Amino acid sequence: MEQFKKDIEAGLSGKEKTLPSKYFYDKKGDALFVEIMHLEEYYLTRAELDIFKNQTQQIINAFALKKDTFFELIELGAGDGLKTKELLKELTNQNYKFDYVPVDISQNALDQLEQTITKETPKVSVKKKQGDYFEVLDAIKGNHCPKIILFLGSNIGNLSDEIASTFISKLSDSLNPNDKLFLGVDLIKSKEIILPAYNDSKGITKAFNLNLLARINNELGGNFEISNFKHQPEFTESEGICRSYLVSCEKQNVFIQALNKSFHFEKGEKILMEISRKYNSEILHKIIKNSNFQIQENFKDSQNYFANYILNRA
Ligand code: TRP
Repeated sequence: MEQFKKDIEAGLSGKEKTLPSKYFYDKKGDALFVEIMHLEEYYLTRAELDIFKNQTQQIINAFALKKDTFFELIELGAGDGLKTKELLKELTNQNYKFDYVPVDISQNALDQLEQTITKETPKVSVKKKQGDYFEVLDAIKGNHCPKIILFLGSNIGNLSDEIASTFISKLSDSLNPNDKLFLGVDLIKSKEIILPAYNDSKGITKAFNLNLLARINNELGGNFEISNFKHQPEFTESEGICRSYLVSCEKQNVFIQALNKSFHFEKGEKILMEISRKYNSEILHKIIKNSNFQIQENFKDSQNYFANYILNRA
């Protein structure tokens, strides 16, 4: 709660307002996000699932695991585990010995995930961990069994390039030689395909973004008038970055009780809610260049929309 308060205050006090997207995921946010992943316009999940379903054995081979050696399969930002379940099924069928360690900011998402896995693949041993990506690093360092890290859904794209590259480099420092990172990234493509994924016709993504204002109202005693803000994603093709904004429809003040502070919004003023970076191999190389990872292989879906890279810890 203290951190939530601090982060909201810092985000709304800067010259360019921003709210950290890791706070999207309360119960309502979790549910809206699952809806996003099933939207017609949200091609990312389908594209990555296509890779997991159609290239399962090639992926398992690329992990280069030994059947008699116990390993940890750690997933950063596991969510509902839709794609990972394909892998879990196959790994248990083939008698691999492992713990599945889903990490997520949302305890609620973790609890639901554990329930569905227990039902669908009861043999899998699930060891959930609540926290953000950086909090996990220390936990990873502690033991020396082989590890496969899953970082899917282009979740890395929600970090700025600078933070992503720091994170990847710290992650590689926490791992042992020949551990692997399986990284899912959305590829740069035209605006016509990317923008609708962040601006669906049913307004679910809009509701998902606005829900953070509602969360501030509920948990910090804010008085955001939700209907005074509109959702506006923008994609700059030259950079390959999609940014989701909430835009103030009028000149207004918002008071947040827990901070005992008012925040002023000009008409048309934007709050940056989230970035979703898109990739090509040049951008990915730049991000991993200061780490101990080397690209081993990649897998793409049938439309070449999405790529999953196997990075080997040198
Ligand atoms: N990382 C994914 C993406 O950027 C999923 C995601 C995170 C997302 N936050 C989102 C999708 C907000 C839509 C809106 O696409």
